[in-house]
Amino acid sequence: MPSDEHAANVRQMFGTIARRYDFLNHFLSGNIDRRWRSACVREVSRRVTGTRPEILDIGCGTGDLSLEFSALGPVVGCDFCHPMLRIGLDKISRRRPKHSIVITEGDALALPFVDGRFDVAVSAFVLRNLSDPGKGILEMGRVLRPGGVLGILDFSMPRAPMIGSLYRFYFLKVLPRIGALISGVKGAYSYLPRSVQTFARPEELKTLIVRSGFDGVEHYRLSGGIALLLVARRRGQ
Ligand SMILES: C[S@@+](CC[C@H](N)C(=O)[O-])C[C@H]1O[C@@H](n2cnc3c(N)ncnc32)[C@H](O)[C@@H]1O
Repeated sequence: MPSDEHAANVRQMFGTIARRYDFLNHFLSGNIDRRWRSACVREVSRRVTGTRPEILDIGCGTGDLSLEFSALGPVVGCDFCHPMLRIGLDKISRRRPKHSIVITEGDALALPFVDGRFDVAVSAFVLRNLSDPGKGILEMGRVLRPGGVLGILDFSMPRAPMIGSLYRFYFLKVLPRIGALISGVKGAYSYLPRSVQTFARPEELKTLIVRSGFDGVEHYRLSGGIALLLVARRRGQ
């Protein structure tokens, strides 16, 4: 599929489920998604040098990761789906984040920021949706200053046979049905397991990150491998 068409499909899909996105996220994951975002904040914070880092949240959607990171420093949230951002803005205005959160409309594959602008670049459940994940990682590296910290969170498939087969049943058979029922959008929640199954494995992602100019790449399998967290540092100081 041409990359423009892929992006248009992804944007439209998130636009149609935006209103139900937060509820379904927490409901379908049994609220574990909150713990995964906290793990991302924790592991990234451990690697940040200096106070009040400038943080970019790529594919911020409805702003949950931006809100978590706003405890650490000022955040810019960027996403190309207007309805997701609208809900995020409402949510942010109802909370009192410790540092500012600015929301920007933009494409992860052509970020509207100058080189080296941020100390931290994070992204949750986005990379798998990009037509070219490698280009997405290069863009993250471009907007990070040398020594800046990268945090990527996404779904993965558990490896343990017992958890794996139970989870596969839930993920492939149950989740798409409940998702369709609650969101009222048929394809969106069968796209999720499809995109996870065809997504690069942790080792491939690590290689991609190293080739894109990062050092010290580490990965953490969360909740038995249902989610994957990758953390790295932009090369150079
Ligand atoms: C699964 S949601 C994740 C939202 C949020 N990060 C979270 O943790 O809940 C994926 C988000 O990535 C955005 N996205 C996908 N492809 C994008 C792209 N090329 N540029 C910008 N945003 C993109 C979608 O619009 C959507 O809001």
